[in-house]
Amino acid sequence: MNKPFAPSCERNKDAILKILKQYITSDDHRLLEVGSGSGQHAVHFAPEFKDLQWVTSDVKSNHDGIKQWLKSARIPNIHGPLDFELGVDEFPRQIFNLVFTANTFHILSWKQDKSLMKMFGNRLREGSQVFIYGPFNYDGKYTSKSNEDFDMWLKDQDSKSAIRNFEDVNSCMVKNGFKLTADHEMPANNRMLVYTRLEFVK
Ligand SMILES: C[S@@+](CC[C@H](N)C(=O)[O-])C[C@H]1O[C@@H](n2cnc3c(N)ncnc32)[C@H](O)[C@@H]1O
Repeated sequence: MNKPFAPSCERNKDAILKILKQYITSDDHRLLEVGSGSGQHAVHFAPEFKDLQWVTSDVKSNHDGIKQWLKSARIPNIHGPLDFELGVDEFPRQIFNLVFTANTFHILSWKQDKSLMKMFGNRLREGSQVFIYGPFNYDGKYTSKSNEDFDMWLKDQDSKSAIRNFEDVNSCMVKNGFKLTADHEMPANNRMLVYTRLEFVK
């Protein structure tokens, strides 16, 4: 089997890394990547954060491809892939203080997105950070014609996939105990949403 290759990862990896470097410090110990895809992002990012254990995850059918990238990269602080399929699996049992997920919110159904955000709220402790990368709509509007075309294409593939509204994602994250730290504009009409877990209120 050839290693899977996602051209988009090659295009966006340096811009994403630049943002992650603004937030990840040597105090951060374990990051969960949700929907690692090919594994290219993990292989590019993990060596830049030597104190961090980068844990990949995805649906089982992607594991062989991720393993190929991990095996050829031989990077000591990358782990997984864990089985983590929304709608099937529980949130992984280890303690994570960071979560990174790229280009998943528009693939998952909105029900799965909400369930993922609920898991973040239930499992991440105060001060943990969540990075959500991908395209989002604002005020119910596309930010570009290319995103509109992409959304049509997504819905053709699966009627439950769609570019999500930032406001819906944000209110769900807030409901689950997070505050928006930043909303970064990224190349190619993408965004990087950064959230911080607030103190648990009983
Ligand atoms: C567009 S790809 C993005 C992959 C990678 N993060 C990237 O940016 O290239 C969407 C990812 O979501 C994963 N995915 C789809 N359904 C899922 C589910 N129910 N639970 C977890 N991951 C899922 C896919 O397997 C795939 O890896």
